Amino acid sequence: MVEKTKVETLHVDLGDRSYPICIGAGNLSQFDLESYINGDKALIVTNELIVPLYLETIKARVKNKSIDIMILPDGEQFKNLEYLNLIFNKLLEENHDRKTTLIALGGGVIGDMTGFAASCYQRGVPFIQIPTTLLAQVDSSVGGKTGVNHLLGKNMLGSFHQPAAVLIDVDVLGTLSDRQFSSGMAEIIKYGLIADVDFFDWIESNRTRLLERDKSTLITAIERSCATKSKIVSADETEMGIRGILNLGHTFGHAIETFQNYRGYLHGEAISAGMLMAMSVSLKEGYLAKGNIDRVENLLAFFDLSTKPPKEMMPSDFKKLMWRDKKVQNGRLRLVLLERLGKALIDDKFSQLSLDSTLENACKP
Ligand code: NAD
Ligand code: GLY
Repeated sequence: MVEKTKVETLHVDLGDRSYPICIGAGNLSQFDLESYINGDKALIVTNELIVPLYLETIKARVKNKSIDIMILPDGEQFKNLEYLNLIFNKLLEENHDRKTTLIALGGGVIGDMTGFAASCYQRGVPFIQIPTTLLAQVDSSVGGKTGVNHLLGKNMLGSFHQPAAVLIDVDVLGTLSDRQFSSGMAEIIKYGLIADVDFFDWIESNRTRLLERDKSTLITAIERSCATKSKIVSADETEMGIRGILNLGHTFGHAIETFQNYRGYLHGEAISAGMLMAMSVSLKEGYLAKGNIDRVENLLAFFDLSTKPPKEMMPSDFKKLMWRDKKVQNGRLRLVLLERLGKALIDDKFSQLSLDSTLENACKP
């Protein structure tokens, strides 16, 4: 008899679309997947790297359903309409009807694409998130933002479509590369910066244990991150206000990712450099103290995260790409700034000078 693993469950409260986030260690082979599948059929969407690692374990959790598998190539550069269409082809070829359920098994790329496919297929079918990267476990699997990239802009095509459940096993992080692990740390640090200064202090104090991937420390970090995200999403599902603060550094970071055609910095690396740029604007606007920025930079550097944009990028590249950001409203760019550590605000009144000198400094060799 297999002993049951202890699983913590958080909830995203969205009325009749509320869902659980189940967080444990070694619980992959115990996920109660079938209880979230209404019909007889499901499609697991994953990528070629994940297949040999975790696919069989997940398939074994859905023995009483008819399962099809869609294996996508691995990489952010495949997060586009062309590869999304392969999911629709598979669903149609295998005669999936409106009772089907999609299962995303992978990182944020697979999660975002599967969620988007689920939101469109026959006008919307349910999907389940099984996030396998740290970044996906603390951020992308929660909150229902789905989508794909366009060559001209990151995540420019998408929808809001909440999952039926988010099932997290920290043990799968054991196979993640150091670089991908650090990419997830950028989003964890983000939660401390935007809403939870005690958590920021805790990350600083536990940095070595986190880097060593100590399981109970990781579970605490994932729970705290998911708790902050679910609270914000429950208050503002479609980003009419407060949810915007989850995008600290993203206007700069998305510009970096688009500039590099999604083949350079990882998402968390781009967000790391972007958060420091947003903090530089915050400093120039009279909010943050320089000492605080140094503290954040040290922590990001400890996890080997980027603290600068790629050297080929010029201020003019940022300007061109940032004005295509989803936070531009009526021609005005809005930025997420930090009033202080643990408190973010959305600002469209910052001075052009603060932004220009931030870009000049960040792009200096
Ligand atoms: P990813 O999905 O590309 O995964 C990173 C790499 O890790 C890939 O090579 C993947 O195959 C591999 N991998 C996944 N799980 C693994 C495991 N357990 N062991 C070994 N390797 C593993 O990238 P990501 O960082 O997970 O996600 C980034 C994406 O998420 C971006 O497209 C970003 O825009 C999106 N995102 C979305 C939201 C949202 O709210 N929807 C939030 C943040 C980020
Ligand atoms: N990652 C930003 C959001 O989910 O709103």
